[in-house]
Amino acid sequence: MTDTVLVVDFGAQYARLIARRVREAHVYSEIVPSSISVDEIRARAPKGIIFSGGPKSVYETPAPSIDAGIYELGIPILGLCYGAQLMALQLGGTVSRTGAGEYGRTALSLSSGVKSPLFPDWPATSSVWMSHGDAITEVPPGFVATASSPGAPVAAMHDVERRLFGLQFHPEVVHTDRGGEVFDHFLIDVCGCAPGWTHVSIIEQQVEAVRAQVGSDRVLCALSGGVDSAVAAALVHKAVGSQLTCVFVDTGLMRAGEADQVEDTFRRQFKVELVHVKAADRYFSALAGVTDPERKRKIIGELFIRIFEEVARDLGAGGSGSDGGGSGDGGGVAHGDGPRFLVQGTLYPDVIESGSDTAANIKSHHNVGGLPEDLDFELVEPLRLLFKDEVRAVGEELGLPHEIVWRQPFPGPGLGVRIIGEVTPERAEILRAADAVVVEEIRRAGLYRELWQSFAVLPAVRTVGVMGDGRTYAYPVVIRAVTSDDAMTADWARLPYDLVERIASRIINEVEGVNRVALDVTSKPPGTIEWE
Ligand code: XMP
Repeated sequence: MTDTVLVVDFGAQYARLIARRVREAHVYSEIVPSSISVDEIRARAPKGIIFSGGPKSVYETPAPSIDAGIYELGIPILGLCYGAQLMALQLGGTVSRTGAGEYGRTALSLSSGVKSPLFPDWPATSSVWMSHGDAITEVPPGFVATASSPGAPVAAMHDVERRLFGLQFHPEVVHTDRGGEVFDHFLIDVCGCAPGWTHVSIIEQQVEAVRAQVGSDRVLCALSGGVDSAVAAALVHKAVGSQLTCVFVDTGLMRAGEADQVEDTFRRQFKVELVHVKAADRYFSALAGVTDPERKRKIIGELFIRIFEEVARDLGAGGSGSDGGGSGDGGGVAHGDGPRFLVQGTLYPDVIESGSDTAANIKSHHNVGGLPEDLDFELVEPLRLLFKDEVRAVGEELGLPHEIVWRQPFPGPGLGVRIIGEVTPERAEILRAADAVVVEEIRRAGLYRELWQSFAVLPAVRTVGVMGDGRTYAYPVVIRAVTSDDAMTADWARLPYDLVERIASRIINEVEGVNRVALDVTSKPPGTIEWE
């Protein structure tokens, strides 16, 4: 019922960005591999198709290609960069290694006498972003060149009749002036899409889908304090109200105020049935004497699973009870007539990534809070189609507090991987207090949303200091603040010195057990964002 545009991924880091730009134009987009068959495309009946760029040359072997039958479907196609070159090559044009690649900001000159429906009112020259070695030197039969640049004789081309378009430049990046308009024109004017993908429509669709999936059964959701599980829970609550039970396990390794926030929001504001497990003691005794980071992660993850199983069992969860719809033998969890469904805050990037092996590894390392497979639940994943920015917008629309919606990412093992060495209640308390100062001051400086993550780390050394008349021997605290787009790479944030000073003096004055503050100036790579 929603118009869909398919983004064919030719291996570019840009495919995701393209899909997001399409959604920003209020049209639903999905990323598909270039191996997709023409029959499958036809079956999905997209209103338009966009070919992404890619790191290869069309002349490399192997280089990703696509079934040329796609051009016969009568569906409008927009090829970008590699995608444009592939289109040119497959339809009988020429792509050459001119030796004059273009990288970065480039001047685009419109051809005189032809107007492109993608930029009908652009000036004769404008600034676009290029990144190419090869260039299209001859358009395929039926096409005309609509723009050029110093290194690309055909920087834009089209066959208006067949609704096929190619652009050498990248309209999806912010460095291309008015790039967003290219998508608007393609999606609305050329493809005739209705701009129906809005936050309100996303919520309506997901609410319907959850209701259809769940019926009158009960649903369980583990809240972590983070954005994704909170938005997923709020959506499911909107769909099935009191059929939802949320579980929040306080590991003693949460940030300051996190547990209260979950209580306030879900129990008091949304009136959700909330099982709040105060498990700090169990975590600290399981972690006593453990210093190896991976063992800490494993212990924290496994204990979470055990506690979750206990709660699920208490609620009689994990089996269909009545109609035998629950699959498998249920592993260690008794069947009952409790919750049969489990909410997971899986996002669209996780769905895309689970295709590739390397990505899968990264996830298993980072997904310590994952739940055991032998819990016999059916998954409800209401965020499965959404990008993070859409999840946040939906969260706001549903009335979740800003503080949750805009919360920076937090690792599953929590403060456990920021307390270097042994995790004890005392050391957790020190770090939580220091971290609260960092976050509060960063918020006050208006930098919280700009930073990917900003937090405190507690090393396992002590240093000598002097306070008043006496010498101290206490912990240093490290300020870690980074900018990043996806956590794969990160840069250390250049925090203003007066802010660093304010944080340092407040931590030393207010947090007992700390006598020194240091600033981490390591990027990723070679560092990681977390210290363990
Ligand atoms: P690193 O430290 O590897 O972190 O640069 C990249 C991103 O992943 C988060 N992170 C984790 N998340 N469980 C998680 O759920 C983990 O064990 C874990 N370790 C790191 C980290 O906060 C950053 O956003």
